[in-house]
Amino acid sequence: MIEVHDLHKHFGGFHAVDGSTLTIKQGSITGLIGPNGAGKTTLFNVIAGVLQPTSGKVIMDGEDITGLPPHTLFGKGLLRTFQIAHEFSSMSLRENLMMVPADQAGEKLWNTWFGRKRIADEERALAAKADEVLEFLTIDHISDERAGNISGGQKKLLELGRTMMVDAKIVFLDEVGAGVNRTLLNTIGDAIIRLNKERGYTFVVIEHDMDFIGRLCDPVICMAEGRVLAEGTLDEIKANEQVIEAYLGTGLKNKVASA
Ligand SMILES: Nc1ncnc2c1ncn2[C@@H]1O[C@H](COP(=O)(O)OP(=O)(O)OP(=O)(O)O)[C@@H](O)[C@H]1O
Ligand SMILES: [Mg+2]
Repeated sequence: MIEVHDLHKHFGGFHAVDGSTLTIKQGSITGLIGPNGAGKTTLFNVIAGVLQPTSGKVIMDGEDITGLPPHTLFGKGLLRTFQIAHEFSSMSLRENLMMVPADQAGEKLWNTWFGRKRIADEERALAAKADEVLEFLTIDHISDERAGNISGGQKKLLELGRTMMVDAKIVFLDEVGAGVNRTLLNTIGDAIIRLNKERGYTFVVIEHDMDFIGRLCDPVICMAEGRVLAEGTLDEIKANEQVIEAYLGTGLKNKVASA
C-alpha cells in the first residue's frame, strides 16, 4: 500500500532519516519501534507531507505521493493524527468531530454547495456520525463535555475519532499510548484492532510500549539512526542482534529484553 524508497531527511548536516526503505502492507497494523532519536517521527512527517524529504520516494497504491501536502494526502485517505487543536478546547467532543469534514473541505465551499436545508440535513448526519464514532470509542458518555476538560488519554481517543469522520485508508499514530494509563491504553488498542478488522483501516503505529506493540502489530519494523534495521514479528525483532545493539547503545536494553 505504501512503499518508501531510500528516503532521506537532513536537517543541516544531520541525517534524521538516512536512507530508509520499507513497505506497509494493506490491512496490516505495522509497528515502528526504535530508540529515541531513531528518526521515526521524522519519517512519519515526511510520509504525511508535513516535511519535505531531502531525497527518496513515497509511493501509495502505485502513485508517487512524495512531498504532497497533508490536505491532499488527507483526500487520499492518508491521515496522521495530531493533538487536538487548541482552539477546539471550548467545543464539545461531538462538535470537535463534526468539524473534521467541514474543516477539510473548507467552510466556504461547504456553505456554497449546500442550501440552508441541505446544511441542516448535513449537520444532522454529521452529528449522528459523530455520536456513532463516540460510541465506538466508548466515550459517548462525555459527548457534550468540552474537549479542554477531558483527560490526555481521552484526547488520544478523540484524535483517533477524527480519523473515523472521513474515509481513512491508512492512519499513522505517533505514540498514541504515551502518558496513558493501562486501561485507556487497552481501550485505544481495542479501537485500533476493531477499526482494522471491521473497517479495513491500515495502521502504522509508533510506540515505545512493547506490550502494546506485541498485542497489536505484525509486522514490526525497527529503526535506528535513520535507517531500517530489521522487520519481522516482535519476537524476531527482539532476537535480532542489530536491534539489541541499537537499544544497548542508548541504555534501553532492558526495555526490549524484558518485553
Ligand atoms: N526540525 C528538526 N531540526 C533539527 N533536528 C531535528 C528536527 N526534527 C528532528 N530532529 C532530530 O532528528 C532526530 C530524529 O528525531 P525523531 O523525532 O524523528 O526521532 P524519534 O525516533 O521519533 O524519537 P522519539 O522516540 O524520541 O520520539 C533527532 O536527533 C532529532 O533531534
Ligand atoms: Mg518521535
